[in-house]
Amino acid sequence: MYQGNKVRLRAYRQQDIENVLRQVNDYDSVRMSASGVILPATYDDEMRWISQQTSMGHGEYQFAIETLDEQYVGGCGIHKVDWKNRVGQVGILIGNPNLRGHGFGSDAIRTLCRVGFGEMNMNKLALTVMAENEAAIRCYSACGFQIEGRLRKEVWREGLYHDLVAMGLLADEWRRGSSAI
Ligand SMILES: CC(C)(COP(=O)(O)OP(=O)(O)OC[C@H]1O[C@@H](n2cnc3c(N)ncnc32)[C@H](O)[C@@H]1OP(=O)(O)O)[C@@H](O)C(=O)NCCC(=O)NCCS
Repeated sequence: MYQGNKVRLRAYRQQDIENVLRQVNDYDSVRMSASGVILPATYDDEMRWISQQTSMGHGEYQFAIETLDEQYVGGCGIHKVDWKNRVGQVGILIGNPNLRGHGFGSDAIRTLCRVGFGEMNMNKLALTVMAENEAAIRCYSACGFQIEGRLRKEVWREGLYHDLVAMGLLADEWRRGSSAI
């Protein structure tokens, strides 16, 4: 539906279930992108989740990411939308590790910013990311997000506390840079 240079953001379909199940059960992907307890997801869990991703707005706007030749590559979204302060939280997962590093993630984030700022009229898109997740920090930075601070020892994972990095992009910055980024 929303097209970038390399990817398209579209609604989830029930046929995405195998890809979605694989990506949410891939420990190495999830350990970098979730802060809660990591538990395996079942077929029924994910079918329910897919069927809840409707356009009937409930503060969560999730998209499947596909290449322009319609290959599923992952998912991204704007969630915890605060309409009063016009802030939305951004998330992304390129589900298949072999498809990372090909520019799909940054193109999806740029396209998602068009949705967030150009369509939803957000004033800020924000996120937190594990401090050791260099790929994600590089990806968000390449899309214009700035590092706003470091939350020390916010996530307990694998027997250690990990810092989170807070990043954000303001509508004005996006407008100024969107022709360039
Ligand atoms: C983070 C993620 C979305 C990035 O998507 P991607 O398609 O791999 O990234 P791109 O190919 O668009 O690259 C974007 C930038 O990140 C850099 N990058 C990509 N992979 C990298 C890696 N493993 N290490 C360091 N930098 C990396 C690229 O060089 C590029 O930087 P540049 O524009 O300055 O050259 C993807 O790696 C992913 O889904 N990771 C697992 C889930 C995750 O961490 N989600 C984010 C949670 S907050």
